[in-house]
Amino acid sequence: MDLKGKIRVIEDFPQKGISFKDITTLIKDGEAFKFVIKSLADLVKDKNADIVVGPEARGFIIGAPLAYELGAGFVPTRKNGKLPAKTLNAEYKLEYGTDIIQMHEDAIKPGQRVIVADDLLATGGTALSNIDLVERVGGKVVAVAVVIELTELGGRNVLQNYDVFSLVKYL
Ligand code: PRP
Repeated sequence: MDLKGKIRVIEDFPQKGISFKDITTLIKDGEAFKFVIKSLADLVKDKNADIVVGPEARGFIIGAPLAYELGAGFVPTRKNGKLPAKTLNAEYKLEYGTDIIQMHEDAIKPGQRVIVADDLLATGGTALSNIDLVERVGGKVVAVAVVIELTELGGRNVLQNYDVFSLVKYL
């Protein structure tokens, strides 16, 4: 399937110089959405993951159905102040700005096999902060799975110790 044809690219959003990859045009197409989740699941199914971790907000859109497809559990990591129980915090840098991401401290048991899933890999900051949260509670990150990879931003280099899977690459 021509996934690039389903992804809308918007220049200078949310600020000048950023070429925003908009997945809303992809996920509103039922066939394309199913194709994306099934394709990601095929790439990582031999990892025998127990848990898929997805960062707020677009990581929920990909991570939850991926977990469902794999028969794994889903753990959300959320922006500061959103999770109700006791949390661990990690600071992360974005393509634009910085923020704190949180995970419930009891979300993952030591030794559980974890996939970090998101819509997009840019600098790798978000994935790395999620990996940090998982590893601090003893989880084992077995893959990072994203729909879109912006190759020039070097996320794959930052994540060189991990297996990174993407479906679509942009420079
Ligand atoms: C976007 C995207 C990834 C992250 C990738 O999320 O959904 O999570 O940036 O960038 P990185 O590899 O440089 O960290 P954003 O923080 O904009 O949040 P949103 O999903 O709530 O829009």
